[in-house]
Amino acid sequence: MTTGTPRESVDATVASMTLEEKARLLTGMDAWQTVAVPRLGIPSIWLSDGPHGVRRETAPLVSLPATSFPTESALGATWDRDLIRRVASAIGHEAREQGVHVLLGPGINMKRTPLCGRNFEYLSEDPLHAGEMAVAYVEGVQSQGVGTSVKHFAVNNQEDERHWISAVVDERTLRETYLAAFERVVTRARPWTVMCSYNRINGVHASQHHWLLTQVLRDEWGFDGLVVSDWAAVHDRVAALRAGLDLEMPTCVAGPQSLIDAVAAGVMASSDLDASTARVLTLVDRAGVGPAQRDTVDRSVDAAASTPAADAHHALAQEAATRAMVLLRNEGSLLPAAVRDARIVTVVGGFATTPRIQGGGSAEVAPTKVQDALTALREALPEDVEVRFALGFPSGDPVEDVDASTAHTEAVRAAAQADVIVVFAGLPDRIESEGYDRRDLRLPDEQERLILDLAALGRPVVVVVTAGSAIDMAAWHDSVDAILWGWLAGQAGGPATADLLTGRACPSGRLTETFPLRLADTPAFATYPGDRGEVRYGEGTLIGYRWYDHHGMQVRYPFGHGLSYTEFTYGDLEVVERRGDGGDIVDVDVTFSVTNTGRVPGIEVAQVYVEDRHSPVVRGPRSLAAFSSVALAPGESARVTLRIEDRSWRWYDVVTQAWRRSAGMFGIAVGSSSRDIRLHTSVDLPADALGPVLTGEDLAPVVRAGQRLTMPR
Ligand code: BGC
Repeated sequence: MTTGTPRESVDATVASMTLEEKARLLTGMDAWQTVAVPRLGIPSIWLSDGPHGVRRETAPLVSLPATSFPTESALGATWDRDLIRRVASAIGHEAREQGVHVLLGPGINMKRTPLCGRNFEYLSEDPLHAGEMAVAYVEGVQSQGVGTSVKHFAVNNQEDERHWISAVVDERTLRETYLAAFERVVTRARPWTVMCSYNRINGVHASQHHWLLTQVLRDEWGFDGLVVSDWAAVHDRVAALRAGLDLEMPTCVAGPQSLIDAVAAGVMASSDLDASTARVLTLVDRAGVGPAQRDTVDRSVDAAASTPAADAHHALAQEAATRAMVLLRNEGSLLPAAVRDARIVTVVGGFATTPRIQGGGSAEVAPTKVQDALTALREALPEDVEVRFALGFPSGDPVEDVDASTAHTEAVRAAAQADVIVVFAGLPDRIESEGYDRRDLRLPDEQERLILDLAALGRPVVVVVTAGSAIDMAAWHDSVDAILWGWLAGQAGGPATADLLTGRACPSGRLTETFPLRLADTPAFATYPGDRGEVRYGEGTLIGYRWYDHHGMQVRYPFGHGLSYTEFTYGDLEVVERRGDGGDIVDVDVTFSVTNTGRVPGIEVAQVYVEDRHSPVVRGPRSLAAFSSVALAPGESARVTLRIEDRSWRWYDVVTQAWRRSAGMFGIAVGSSSRDIRLHTSVDLPADALGPVLTGEDLAPVVRAGQRLTMPR
């Protein structure tokens, strides 16, 4: 490229490019690379999935070994920004080693329905939580000189019909629920790229959505990176370019040609391509591709699995898996003593020997190694403990030759003498994957029946669940003593599980999605998957815990829930209002004490929620505003200060196009989950300075005049 400041150099290069060169640069060269322009010294760069490890393909469906970390739903459950940053920088490091310049992640779509097949790749049902975790992730990857692609922008909340479904969503819901995590990560972590989603939003494909890609993303949030399409998400290349979509991926013959034709037909000026061309060149510049890096790629083909970094990253994957798993139930404090002190342990279920470490689809990483839970458990327990194993049920893999009834009978027999039975249950790939949704929330029938028959033996039963998103446990929940939620825990999930079961580690993961009692209770039940191409987000901002709290419904396990082997108490709540230059209250600092009153070291995830029951719009009774994980030795106490940012008090007013704070008393609830509140206070905040909020009566003339107030498109 030409010399000068980076900006001047990019502009000069754009000026020297032909129309054909620009049009070609704006569509991929192949599945993963951008087009090179040797005449101008422009190299191609490589984009790869993401998000929980690098999937650098060397041939279709063959990729270089890379560390398979726990998937995003598990990473989110750590609630630990520092840990996410460390995991992400390890992923960034591996990407760099493998010649990947942009990692296609993190995925930060909201979990609107637990049926979404791709929930395992998403962080949360809460935008603040997902946004905060994503900031840490983007910082981590980008600290290694590798870009990220925050995806899927936006409102990609189901896999069924994902290419054409139109999410019909009002603007307030978009801003507060479906765009908020993107806004946070774009404005705070400056990702190199954002990936548009497949679906339509209020009738317009995300890839062609000017309001979304230009007005909101660039003009309002100041995004200065590149917008890339999801793979084959572009339907009309000219409309997409006009909307703000820079790079179409993967390669596509029609794309560049339609841009060239549009210029030839006089419906577009060649200069219309310049801004997007400049953004691709800036991305290539940032990637800093050099010959040395290409050497590294070739070497890494054989070496990736055995480097010291691979061992360190495997250990990090184990740490993350340990921190992610959630102890949902532990009747009579069964764990960890029941496993640690047992003479005979019967382990049932193929997930213990052949773990399902990740979900199906584009995020599938070729792991550097895999450690299973059965081997890890045998290693963790004294030699004289007998650890028996029975398969119990078929995995669902069509090539597997297992007679279901024999497997069932053998498992019950193997468990009959056990001091404790540990069942590894879960969802098989064929039920939970990118590309389609689940049909219901149950475990496969044969697993439910087996759990019940094992429980009928009258011995303590622990169930370890492998799944990326909530399941319905009604059939067997009350019959078992303990439930450890194991997620899709990555290549080192086995030893993590063993450490938690035996008490070498203390559980600290917390749910980032509500586990409902049944599917019919869930927020999107009435509208999902939509009718004839449209899905109406009628529940508005009330997704996740906001929905259940609003309706006063019982849930199986609430957002933020997770047990520990120790106990924590909370106390001494103090609140300090912080004023901005104009004297207006901007943020509120909340300080409280957390004490480990139990007997083992543990990590508490302290959560702060705000309660707004007076604003003129429907808001969830409680919204997460801040959180922190606190590691404490037995008897240790810490003062924790968390900031409630100004935005937490506010709702989005579509009339004034502004975030409004309504005067009144707001509750501040501090606790261990969204439904385990330990401390409570309130603050009386004044209204914002934007004048009165217009009422329905004030707005009637506008609405009569046919002005659309609520549906951006
Ligand atoms: C997925 C993206 C992924 C891309 C490339 C698409 O089908 O939706 O998340 O990054 O493929 O593999």
